[in-house]
Amino acid sequence: MELVEKINRLRKERNAVILAHNYQIPEVQDIADYVGDSLGLSIQASKTPADVIVFCGVYFMAETAKILSPGKTVLIPDANAGCPMADMITAEELRKLKREHPRAKVLCYVNTTAEVKAECDVCCTSGNAERIVREAFRSDDEIIFAPDQYLARNISTRVGRDFIFWKGYCPTHVKILPEDIARKRVLYPEAEVMVHPECTPAVTELADKVVSTEGMMRYARETKTREFIIGTEIGILHRLKKENPDKSFYPVSERAACPNMKLTTLEKVLWALEEMQYEVTVPPDIISKAKSSLQIMLDH
Ligand code: 13P
Ligand code: SF4
Repeated sequence: MELVEKINRLRKERNAVILAHNYQIPEVQDIADYVGDSLGLSIQASKTPADVIVFCGVYFMAETAKILSPGKTVLIPDANAGCPMADMITAEELRKLKREHPRAKVLCYVNTTAEVKAECDVCCTSGNAERIVREAFRSDDEIIFAPDQYLARNISTRVGRDFIFWKGYCPTHVKILPEDIARKRVLYPEAEVMVHPECTPAVTELADKVVSTEGMMRYARETKTREFIIGTEIGILHRLKKENPDKSFYPVSERAACPNMKLTTLEKVLWALEEMQYEVTVPPDIISKAKSSLQIMLDH
């Protein structure tokens, strides 16, 4: 039997849903029940009627699914699929920062461990960070924004307020360089440049649009523009091309490949369903503390 057929049979038998991030390899995106950004995946995880969630992404995303749906079995096909940015701040480091700024509220990017989420007040993704800052905080609140310094700087410019930020970054997005954009603009002068807010300010300054992965999908669909230069992890090009076959998409840089996002393969998805591996667990006290920050995000 074909790999995909076996996955489909087991998905039904286990009453499982397969969720995949926009950066997953094309074959994995193609068998998923839902493909999206961190925000869309969190929403799907919080409302799915399935018993089992197979999370094709990185560990913090699967943990987020478990926090939002603690009664479900959450599986990650490769337990080594971590996010180096999420590991750049520990709960202890955040507690120390909070002690240094006792009046500050904490806004955590969803790219954080469950223990760090348990220490924060509100969560955000790259798709809703600006709205969350505007709606979930008072204008005089002091805000710690962790761990991505570049997302924090980006939102700080947009909303016109300062944050206390942590010096984390995404090792994949910092590989996108200003000279890559300049080169591609010469090659494709008609194209619009869309980059992710995890890119450095030197890169975001050169872009026409700074948007989350789902923001890129939406804009590509809705605009009349036919050519795009894309500054984010290259996995998204598959979905952009598939959903917009009459438009052209060029990566700013082929170097922007997240090795962790590429660990999930169709074989590992099948093994996950066959062996019910690797189960993602979060201690109940961490779930109850982390849930409120995620729930505030979803309620906005
Ligand atoms: P979004 O899916 O929120 O755009 O985030 C990108 C990312 O790097 C996730 O790891
Ligand atoms: Fe983490 Fe960057 Fe990979 Fe996203 S692309 S999982 S932020 S390392």
